[in-house]
Amino acid sequence: MEFLKNIALPQSAGDIELLHYMLVLMLFLFIPFISVILWGTVLSVYFKMKEKISLEENHRKISKDIIELVTVNKSIGIILGIVPLFTAILIFSQLFSASETSNLEFLGIAFILLTIALYFIYDYRDSFENLKTPKVISGIIGSAILFIALWMFVTGITVAVFYEYWKPAGSIQDLFTSVVIIRFIYFLAASIAITGGALLFGFFYLEGGKGRIDKEYGKFVKRIAIIITFTATLLLPLLIFANLIILPGTVLSGAVFAYITIGLFSLFLAYHFLYMIFTRYSSKFTALLFFALLFMIFTVIISDQLIINNSTKVQSAILATKYDVILNELKGEDTVLEISGEEIYKVKCAACHSFDNKIVGPPHNEVVPKYIGKEQQLISFIRNPVKIDPNYPPMPNPGLEPNEAKAVAEYILKQVKQNIGK
Ligand code: HEC
Repeated sequence: MEFLKNIALPQSAGDIELLHYMLVLMLFLFIPFISVILWGTVLSVYFKMKEKISLEENHRKISKDIIELVTVNKSIGIILGIVPLFTAILIFSQLFSASETSNLEFLGIAFILLTIALYFIYDYRDSFENLKTPKVISGIIGSAILFIALWMFVTGITVAVFYEYWKPAGSIQDLFTSVVIIRFIYFLAASIAITGGALLFGFFYLEGGKGRIDKEYGKFVKRIAIIITFTATLLLPLLIFANLIILPGTVLSGAVFAYITIGLFSLFLAYHFLYMIFTRYSSKFTALLFFALLFMIFTVIISDQLIINNSTKVQSAILATKYDVILNELKGEDTVLEISGEEIYKVKCAACHSFDNKIVGPPHNEVVPKYIGKEQQLISFIRNPVKIDPNYPPMPNPGLEPNEAKAVAEYILKQVKQNIGK
């Protein structure tokens, strides 16, 4: 995926913000759609196989109806499955173009697998129309590949979310780290819930509730969809909580909490609507349930995005600096391509340091003068902090690249020299 980074364009700060919004939009389209495709295919295949033994008409019908409902048609598969993921990869390649991260590798593999999986799944769907015996094997292969594709996808996103705190080497082992596993299970539960919601919505609300559904069959579908949705939504609060625990404390801003709270609230609304559907027949509640679940998934996407936003601040600062420099060059002003030490300092150091006062770390005006004339030593401290003063906690490694550390060191030294009047 190196080539993607090479085509990265310099971005102004405004462009970067726009990219974040577009990323959210792409994930809004992609995640619900692909969730419903995955579990819709699994259910359809399951009932198709069950029918072979039971010979029940309901099993035959539901298997066909589900796959037709969830896959809609081929162009929807491309518009909601392939295009958003591809766009998301392009956006990530821009946001992370200034850094080493394995998230593009995972997302790239996910994309390839996704394309193959959709090919098989649509082959399975089409076989219902054209053949007497549908190609169950295509359905099985398609859903298995899609499962792996989504595991890769979750890993890729997780690498981006945890970018500053956990730099995996980008190997197959990353798929089995506890952080990825917890988030993948979270994804699976949410995707099962939204699939159940989509089935209720699709069978009982769309097209006037498929008036053609006969009563027996309707009851059968409703029972299955309710069981699926109920089981999955019951697990969700636990998984929301687990996901919260594994996040590093520093990324949990107030906004992240606010979205998680809204997400929980929509989940409780979903419980309520599910109960209404269970106790009385009203198609209105299937729509409400579906949108409550959709909304819950949206809040998860937004809170992940806020975290990525926080953890890529330095990247964004670097990109924006490059952009300004190139702009100056175009205008004929002579500037060298340089990373702004001040920008990096603001996002990576200022939380703990100031020049005059003690915050978490010591004031620079006190501790930095000893580095005057020894810039190299300061750079190596910044890149690999060691324990110095027993009155302070150890400084965590800020994870800077050599040229970034150099820029910050130069900036601090310059400021300190001015401040102490040397
Ligand atoms: C999470 C808080 C935190 C962040 C972020 C942080 N520091 Fe520190 N820093 C500390 C603490 C605590 C100490 C004191 C460590 C000690 O004395 O062992 C320290 C010490 C220092 C010192 C003094 C070293 C010495 O020789 O006494 C320098 C210089 C410094 N930090 C620079 C930076 C720079 C540059 C950044 C940003 C790239 C940064 N720090 C980010 C907490 C932080």
